[in-house]
Amino acid sequence: RLEIIRAKHSGFCFGVRQAIDTTMKQIGRNAGGRICTCGQLIHNATVTDELAARGVGIINAPEEASAGDTVIVRSHGEPQRFYRTARERGLHVIDATCPFVARIHTLVHDAYARGAHIVIVGDKNHPEVIGINGWCEDTAFIASTAEEASRYPFPDAFVVSQTTLNEKVFDEITGLLQRMGVRLEIQNTICSATRERQQAAAELSERVDAMIVIGGRNSSNTKKLYEICKKNQNKCFFVENNKDLPLKQLQKCNRIGIAAGASTPERVIKEVISTMSENITNENNISMADYMDEI
Ligand code: F3S
Repeated sequence: RLEIIRAKHSGFCFGVRQAIDTTMKQIGRNAGGRICTCGQLIHNATVTDELAARGVGIINAPEEASAGDTVIVRSHGEPQRFYRTARERGLHVIDATCPFVARIHTLVHDAYARGAHIVIVGDKNHPEVIGINGWCEDTAFIASTAEEASRYPFPDAFVVSQTTLNEKVFDEITGLLQRMGVRLEIQNTICSATRERQQAAAELSERVDAMIVIGGRNSSNTKKLYEICKKNQNKCFFVENNKDLPLKQLQKCNRIGIAAGASTPERVIKEVISTMSENITNENNISMADYMDEI
């Protein structure tokens, strides 16, 4: 029979759920002014389209909002200067920075205040990393590869990681810095939700005939999940929703694994499962009711 197995810890993480809840509450109690998020609340078009339909706008910087507007800080967090500008402009700030990201801001801010050189292991273009860098006056050395890290110029470093980083990359870069003789103070700030999600997806991808990774095209944590699963499983597909499913290539599979990024809504995951169940045939298909009970 066709088994559709969902990896543990797939779908919304704690920080994303909290940001969405906070935004929804704000829509209910808006007392005038616009409501907007600074950047897309989460990297998922299904959710952002829904928010747009409820009148939540998107700005790219606090300078784009006017006095009295409510600006929601998403789970990725913002640089320290964001709060200064927002205050000066009379914006009403609702802070939905994930507490795990806020902790990195505090660590970096304090280490920088005592004179440490900050290293962020992560993607320099990712808003979370830009936000973290903004808590040490944009002075951090940012590396996402060993090659970049090999150019580190100082004898010591206070190292943090982007929360969604792959553990192996973090170990590789800190290992290299150590071998270069850099004195390190290491804070592994990879979020446990990410670690658990990645481990569960990696394990599942080894024991299925095909693997489906669900998430927004611009969701970096979903992309990483896909890369991890792809290493174990040739038949690995990245889909945004049920319309992207490569149904032809999934025919005759007996076991299909599913993993989903931290910003993938439950509804999208369920639609993918139900489309597969209705359209993939092998000798003895599992009934939709059976697997909906399982999840
Ligand atoms: Fe927060 Fe971890 Fe999610 S840092 S936003 S709970 S992936």
